[in-house]
Amino acid sequence: MKRLIDKLAEEHDLADEEWRQLIAGEYDRSLLYAKADEVRRRYYGTEVYIRGLIEISSYCKNDCLYCGIRRSNENARRYRLTKEQILECCETGYGLGFRTFVLQGGEDAFFTTDYVAGLVREMKRRYPDCAVTLSLGERERDDYQTWFDAGADRYLLRHETADKAHYEKLHPPQLSWEHRMQCLRDLKDIGYQTGCGFMVESPEQTAEHLIAEMRFLREFQPHMVGIGPFIPHHDTPFYDRRQGSLERTLTMVALIRLTLPQALIPSTTALGTIHPQGRELGLRAGANVVMPNLSPVSVRKQYALYDNKICTGDEAAECIACMTGRVASAGYRVVTGRGDWRNGCS
Ligand code: 5AD
Ligand code: FES
Repeated sequence: MKRLIDKLAEEHDLADEEWRQLIAGEYDRSLLYAKADEVRRRYYGTEVYIRGLIEISSYCKNDCLYCGIRRSNENARRYRLTKEQILECCETGYGLGFRTFVLQGGEDAFFTTDYVAGLVREMKRRYPDCAVTLSLGERERDDYQTWFDAGADRYLLRHETADKAHYEKLHPPQLSWEHRMQCLRDLKDIGYQTGCGFMVESPEQTAEHLIAEMRFLREFQPHMVGIGPFIPHHDTPFYDRRQGSLERTLTMVALIRLTLPQALIPSTTALGTIHPQGRELGLRAGANVVMPNLSPVSVRKQYALYDNKICTGDEAAECIACMTGRVASAGYRVVTGRGDWRNGCS
């Protein structure tokens, strides 16, 4: 297996049968994690970038079968932050050292194209040294262009699965895999640092799907890849499906690092939710970004995409202190700075 790991680290690609073996994980995976760590250090040293996550709305017009804020979940408590609240989160975050703000939310029609553009402009006016990342779901190319022109730097849109038939098992018929993939191509084309991603061990996911994920990433060459284990939410159709495992998620983090050596890969909250040291283990398997929550504590619990989400009771300051300690305990260091994608040079 060592030979395969070395081959992937050098060539960044494998044949299907080779992917299958590495994904199956029937070997000493510490070899894989160590190689992924070696490659991340080559490009990023021990730096870990922090992104301040601001969850701006729990309203969503979509009905993804896995998601706790899906439209048809009548038990979901809904909130929407005001412009003032969002800017307050930025102010707090800036004081704590954040130089990237991520605006994430459900697909909420209240946030019109112009409204978001105005918000982005104001954020860039107040914090010209900060990057603004948007994660507001699917829109049309013109909207993405308007936000880019307003100053947005990055966009996160997980594709959720690279397989159309699998996509249709996770989403209602109103959502199309083709449109989602088109959004990703448009974002990259416009000039955003673009992030895609998927859930590990989502319902009906097979090893073949994971091979397709690696092929897609190889071809699309995103700047960022966010992955985390699927975690059931009690008020969704997938309430009784099995949660994704720690080992499988770490394996995929490491494989992504070896396939896209320069990628920005967050060690996600979902990973921290399924294991007390999940995020530290994610960093050690090749991840190099963490995204502490900057949302007001009063609304945190309402942004419940899955059950038992961590960090919902902590003030931003506590969260960043906690995260800084966790990153250090894993052998890395949190750095203040935009933490842009790096092209080539180490
Ligand atoms: N478990 C894990 N991740 C989830 N997401 C949504 N619902 C769940 C869940 N039940 C992820 C999706 C989405 C991101 C914001 O959160 O991948 O793109
Ligand atoms: Fe939020 Fe630990 S990272 S409390």
